[in-house]
Amino acid sequence: MESQQLTPEQQDRKRRLDWFLKARFGMFIHWGLYSQLGRHEWVMNRERIPVEEYEPLAQTWKPAPGCQREWAKLAKDSGMRYMVMTTKHHEGFCLFDSKLTDYNAAKCGPGRDLVAEYVEAARAEGLKVGFYYSMMDWHHPDGARCKKDEAARRRFVDYIHGQVRELCTNYGKVDIMWYDVSWPLDAEGWESAKMNAMVRELQPDIIINDRSQMPEDFGTPEQHITPAEGGRAWEACMTFNGSWGYTPIDTDYKTSKQVVGMLRQVAAGGGNLLLNIGPRPDGSVPEPCVQALKETGDWLRRYGPSLYEATDPGPKDWLVTGAFTTRGSKLYFHCNRWPGSELAIGGLFNKVLGARLMGGYELGFRQNKDRLVIFGLPEIAPDALATVIEIDVEGQPKQKLGAGCVLIDDDPWG
Ligand code: GLC
Repeated sequence: MESQQLTPEQQDRKRRLDWFLKARFGMFIHWGLYSQLGRHEWVMNRERIPVEEYEPLAQTWKPAPGCQREWAKLAKDSGMRYMVMTTKHHEGFCLFDSKLTDYNAAKCGPGRDLVAEYVEAARAEGLKVGFYYSMMDWHHPDGARCKKDEAARRRFVDYIHGQVRELCTNYGKVDIMWYDVSWPLDAEGWESAKMNAMVRELQPDIIINDRSQMPEDFGTPEQHITPAEGGRAWEACMTFNGSWGYTPIDTDYKTSKQVVGMLRQVAAGGGNLLLNIGPRPDGSVPEPCVQALKETGDWLRRYGPSLYEATDPGPKDWLVTGAFTTRGSKLYFHCNRWPGSELAIGGLFNKVLGARLMGGYELGFRQNKDRLVIFGLPEIAPDALATVIEIDVEGQPKQKLGAGCVLIDDDPWG
């Protein structure tokens, strides 16, 4: 029924987005010349490094062969289902072998097409492949001039479209086109509609993000987890510490507990988490990221169904002990602050049919109007990141508390 009401364009989008809507978790990789300096991927701009002074970094970059295989294995082990790597960041250096500039990995220090290696590595692990591509370019002589000089705009837009064409032509199937910063032009100046039509012609199954000043297929909240309006697909991108590029002086890395918490949040809102690693110039991944990702993977092997296939269409009220996802008539309570042997959940009006530690044993429970008490839990949390308690209820799960403390006799959902 539903698909009959969709326009052909909407139906096609639904088809292309199918895998993405179930993916939940992806690896973002920011890797470039800036990784050698280790002070954020905006270092060229923030420290006002002149182009001539920055350029030699293209010759000194010597990434170790095979490092992308390690990322792909790490991504797979962590429960991620796709990867998105910077093919060119704002610095303008191309990690792919471009015919349009020699400022690229194949012709400079690395001496290899790092995008080809990345694609091969991701595919070997069965992961979907995304290309991050910055439209803004601090290296190209027309990158800023294009705003005020029509001849420069023409040259620069041809350059950008030409590179996007290369990316969509030379690497087989590409699953995501992930544009970034479209300074200094508008959609018309960039000829974004034409560019994206070309992308779709070359890659009929691709999904495109919203950063070429066209809404396209999905939204990209950055550094915050905010579900999109109107059922639109979305993906929150987040750093592990405070930077996207390798920045060892920022030691404030997210823990696996935080990652699991973010995954619950994106799942509840029906979105994805694109979590960034900023590898060292040699391609190795900072240990705090590896550690947190491995722990997240272990957690997902046990509790995955509470995230990959679950969402939370009817938002629930806060509880100090944790938060929900739901699937059909099942509630998954992600308990990240363990209460001890009893867990009380208020505001649930569905009849409870059963409760268990997910992947573990059945639990006892008693229910009195909108107070559910689950008992027989271990004193100590079985899982430090979050223990999921699976609750089967009658009908669609609904939970709501409000501010009062009086038990309501009539139907609170009416
Ligand atoms: C921002 C930054 C950039 C980073 C991106 C990731 O737009 O400019 O450095 O690559 O966000 O979403």
